[in-house]
Amino acid sequence: MLYNEPSPLETKVLTRRFGLPNSASLETYLATEGYQAFLKAAKMKPEEIIEEVKISNLRGRGGAGFPTGMKWSFVPRTSPKPKYIVVNADESEPGTCKDRLLMENDPHQLIEGALIAGLAVDSHGGYIYVRGEYRYLIEILDKAIAEAYAGGWLGKNIQGTGFDFDLYTHTGAGAYECGEESALLESLEGKRGVPRIRPPFPAVAGAFQCPTVLNNVETYSAVPAIIRDGGAAFASLGVPKAGGTKLTCLTGHVNKPGVYELRLGFPVKQMIEEVGGGIRNGKKLKAFIPGGSSCPVLTAEELEGATMDYDSMAQRKTMLGSGGVIIMDEDTCMVKAVLRIMRFYAHESCGWCIPCREGTTWIRKVLQRFHSGGGTRADIDLLGDLGKNMLGRTFCPLGDAAAMPIISFVQKFRNEFEAHLDGKPCPYEHAERLVAV
Ligand SMILES: Cc1cc2nc3c(=O)[nH]c(=O)nc-3n(C[C@H](O)[C@H](O)[C@H](O)COP(=O)(O)O)c2cc1C
Repeated sequence: MLYNEPSPLETKVLTRRFGLPNSASLETYLATEGYQAFLKAAKMKPEEIIEEVKISNLRGRGGAGFPTGMKWSFVPRTSPKPKYIVVNADESEPGTCKDRLLMENDPHQLIEGALIAGLAVDSHGGYIYVRGEYRYLIEILDKAIAEAYAGGWLGKNIQGTGFDFDLYTHTGAGAYECGEESALLESLEGKRGVPRIRPPFPAVAGAFQCPTVLNNVETYSAVPAIIRDGGAAFASLGVPKAGGTKLTCLTGHVNKPGVYELRLGFPVKQMIEEVGGGIRNGKKLKAFIPGGSSCPVLTAEELEGATMDYDSMAQRKTMLGSGGVIIMDEDTCMVKAVLRIMRFYAHESCGWCIPCREGTTWIRKVLQRFHSGGGTRADIDLLGDLGKNMLGRTFCPLGDAAAMPIISFVQKFRNEFEAHLDGKPCPYEHAERLVAV
């Protein structure tokens, strides 16, 4: 079990079983109110379940923050086709490492969330699509699924409710693109993982062209608490337009990196200082990425008064994203940091559309040259322009995910790009600990 020491500042809803003996077992789950929400939901009408999720103000935890109850309401319940529940467990956004903990420490909570989603949209089958590198989790998930079948929590006529539901795991092959919902569905169907044109959206034509609810692991894992304690209770933990807690991955130059469950709206400064134990070695904060490497970077000054929620981050022209916080101290070379990020996107671009395939590689090459002292002043504007030419022009948002960091790094840390000009060596070269590029 990989889990950092909890912080007293956490609000433990989804992570409340973390640290309990055999927290992943059915026995522990049942002893701690497990599957009670399913039994409650089984007595509710589907529209009442969806209404409760709407009241909770739960927004998708996979990155885009789309309201979950609204997404579920788009599924045409009267469609004669089978309907599917798909769990996005691809978790590949750099900085993000929270879904793995939910699956490792409390897989039954995820299964219960998927079951309740099934009740809400009249679905009787689902898949957990697990990132290729998380293959070790398959064993844990399959064990939990087998326990659930044996205990009568999956399969036919679950606990005498008359509701049938089957659940399967499926592994990807380790491609970031397969976290994008339509590419995930292609991959799930055994095809090459490239995005689909939309509309139609998965709610109408998803897995096998059938109506599909597709959500992130953390989103489904929040559902049992919402049904058990009521949507209003969950909503009250967060901010007016976004309810509940968020698993926040504190990574980078803090003293206590780890995954912490914090109320939405938690003050950023308090999070860094008190939850994360402050910046390592008493250094100053230079840059902050709130929700995984695809979010625009913020300077320390921009964090004044910021809170960890969708609106506060949108006001600062960035995103809460998936909760993968990346903290960089004053010794970090911003050229090298964005080079590391762009290497990832160039490597992970699926190559399906030209602006993303060519753009990410071009940016990576310019940055590589730039960081090794061969950059020119024109390159600085070129980097920003390449990003702007990708933004909104690619088949799926991977292009945006790559464009946003480069545009923001050039805009906010232009001085650092200029400091590398005229063959000068990287001024931060002593700070080798950041990243090996
Ligand atoms: C390139 C790319 C990668 C993505 N990777 C993930 C991922 O690993 N996990 C995830 O839940 N969502 C990921 N998403 C977002 C999904 O497309 C989708 O919005 C999300 O799974 C919906 O679930 P939610 O509403 O619960 O957030 C990714 C999106 C893009 C464009």
